[in-house]
Amino acid sequence: MPLQIIVGAQWGDEGKGRIVDWFAAQADVVARYNGGDNAGHSVTVGTQLFKLHLVPSGIIHSRPVAVLGNGMVINPESLLKEMDMLQALGVEISPRRIRLSHAAHLITPAHRALDAALEARRGKGNIGTTGRGIGPAYTDKAARTNLRIADLLAPDFAGRLASHIAAANNTLQSLDAPALEIQPVLDQFAEYVRRLTPFIADTSAETCEVLARGGYVLAEGAQGTLLDLDHGTYPFVTSSATIAAGVFSGLGIGITAARDAVVTGVCKSFQTRVGSGPFPTEVFDDLALRLRGTGANPWDEYGTTTGRARRVGWLDGVLLRYATRINGFTELVITKMDILSGFETLKLCVAYTKDGQTTPDLPFGPTELEGYEPVYETFPGWSEDVSNLRNWDDLPLAARDYLAAISRLAGVPVRLVSVGPEREQIVPR
Ligand code: GDP
Ligand code: IMO
Ligand code: MG
Repeated sequence: MPLQIIVGAQWGDEGKGRIVDWFAAQADVVARYNGGDNAGHSVTVGTQLFKLHLVPSGIIHSRPVAVLGNGMVINPESLLKEMDMLQALGVEISPRRIRLSHAAHLITPAHRALDAALEARRGKGNIGTTGRGIGPAYTDKAARTNLRIADLLAPDFAGRLASHIAAANNTLQSLDAPALEIQPVLDQFAEYVRRLTPFIADTSAETCEVLARGGYVLAEGAQGTLLDLDHGTYPFVTSSATIAAGVFSGLGIGITAARDAVVTGVCKSFQTRVGSGPFPTEVFDDLALRLRGTGANPWDEYGTTTGRARRVGWLDGVLLRYATRINGFTELVITKMDILSGFETLKLCVAYTKDGQTTPDLPFGPTELEGYEPVYETFPGWSEDVSNLRNWDDLPLAARDYLAAISRLAGVPVRLVSVGPEREQIVPR
């Protein structure tokens, strides 16, 4: 299998990290193609929990090379912290294992300060960003003024960084936010340059070479389809191409690799969202608490990056079918099936209604969700604990019926389900 793309089918946090980890044992390359440290990907191996933000989840296996692609925005401070954390946990961190695209963009302290100031100015209408400077960094990229990883190597880097901070300070002051002191930022970056230089590479050329010799490249999406800048619930989205198509520009590989690509949509057995924006199947009160958990377990629905409580609801099959179309999913992985054990009945949104009209699909995509009410199909639940099951046929009949309905709605097969956060808690089809 030359190229496999793992994409979130919802609003992020579907369990992409642990699913990438499942496939990564066989991969030659595991590559992130979008986003930055707004992502939080958890992988649990035995009792060890790895929380990854920038380094691809494949790093935990010894085989694959971990690529941070050109489509990413990279905060060097976060990256170095993460590398140190991984090394302390016994993961090899070396230029052999980690390759950093020279064309990826930098996130600076100015981008983070701007993210906070812009959110404060939005007030009640805020996006609920992760505060990691993602939007401001991609804004500078689009304006063609941003600093890139390759610039770290330039002799005049310090001067350019100083100009960047000075320009951001003007904007910060216009937003009534405090300006940044320039010299401490220059000092920090001198250290980042020293430590990151050995990892910088032409990752496009290297990844294409692996594909050309028939190697297995696993592309790890961050965020989810409904947070995509073009195809998500705009403006309540992130600032990058999260969808499968983002792989080609975000890694610098030709689209001919798509010819026999596997596109795996990772979808939770229910729906979650963190931050603002429409959520037609959202539930509240006791039901929400059951789906979210109290926070006592590491897998309860509280953000890996920000710790915020996630909004929760029933699985939205209309949006899942949309995600299947936008990404061209060839298969689905359904995560967190164990969380649904013990519900008497389950609801699955199969259509929407508005003004007395029922539609199985959205006329204008997910931006126009206002006023649409979900139409639910109700399914019997199951009481059995499924977390120790590993064979498809052992899953309760009601669980298989629910999965079959999801597969029918999306029009693609379910290849795996996960029944717990641990690496081995997977039931293959
Ligand atoms: P990602 O951003 O898509 O990688 O997902 P996150 O790691 O942010 O959030 C998924 C959470 O659910 C993490 O805490 C995972 O450890 C956990 N998780 C993943 N799959 C399962 C599962 O099948 N069952 C349970 N209970 N937890 C899971
Ligand atoms: P992973 O990869 C869930 C959300 C934020 C906010 C919006 C914009 O772990 O699935 P940003 O900081 O990107 O400008 O925030 O996007 N968001 C995520 N939600 N999972 C993520 O990543 C997210 N990354 C960003 O909550 O609503
Ligand atoms: Mg996450």
